[in-house]
Amino acid sequence: MKKTLIFVMTAILVLVSAFALADGKTLADIQAKGELVIATSPDFPPFEALQGDGSVKGIEIDIMEKVCDALGVKLVIEQVDFDSILQGISSGTYDVGVSGISVTEERKKNVLFTDPYCLAAQAIVVVEGSDIASKADLAGKLISVQTGTTSELSCLAEGYNVESYTQNVDAELAVLNNNVDAWVIDDLTAAEMVAANNAQSDKKLVILDEALSTEPYAFAFQFGSEDLVEAVNQTLNGLVEDGTVAAIFEAFDAPYTSPLAK
Ligand code: ARG
Repeated sequence: MKKTLIFVMTAILVLVSAFALADGKTLADIQAKGELVIATSPDFPPFEALQGDGSVKGIEIDIMEKVCDALGVKLVIEQVDFDSILQGISSGTYDVGVSGISVTEERKKNVLFTDPYCLAAQAIVVVEGSDIASKADLAGKLISVQTGTTSELSCLAEGYNVESYTQNVDAELAVLNNNVDAWVIDDLTAAEMVAANNAQSDKKLVILDEALSTEPYAFAFQFGSEDLVEAVNQTLNGLVEDGTVAAIFEAFDAPYTSPLAK
């Protein structure tokens, strides 16, 4: 009796998890609906940035356009706060997370990542004249970060005091207004936002030479989308290998570090 019960319960569990896995969209599902819905937080130039006309432009949008061309589907952009993207992917609200998403072991428990297409680092930004000159000076200081990012995670892991903001620009404003001592943000976005600030404000920002960590960027899909990820990987790896990704970075005046560079 007991054995039968265990057998029945195991069978139910197996069935339930098979259905849960089947939930992710397959390549056929995407091609049948004719579109790939990306979730992006467009506050992250040069990867995704909201334009005056409401459109979103950036390196990752150009890469995804090419991926969609290869799959024969239309790219649809949904603007989502960064800290809601991964959850929206694992629940199937969006097809793919496109948001400068760093691959981490923890995130791999909830989403399927494509192969990485570039490497980035966590940069430390301070106001000109700050007494913070290196990573060691951050001890005991208050640091602004974007909520749910690896900037937040790495600062917390270092034991720093952290002030988290939903929008990147607010994390930048916090350091500009001296509400925090430093701002930690991915390097290429730091370079672009700092250059934009310094071009139009007397209050200058400085990026320190020393970075916190190096991280690969990839695109995130729901579990169960294995064949779709495989198809995307084929195109994506081709774009990395034939120099297309490097050319897209160049078009945005951004230095490119290939994930293949060791
Ligand atoms: N790379 C970092 C992470 O994965 C930050 C990404 C922030 N992206 C954005 N579009 N605001 O957590």
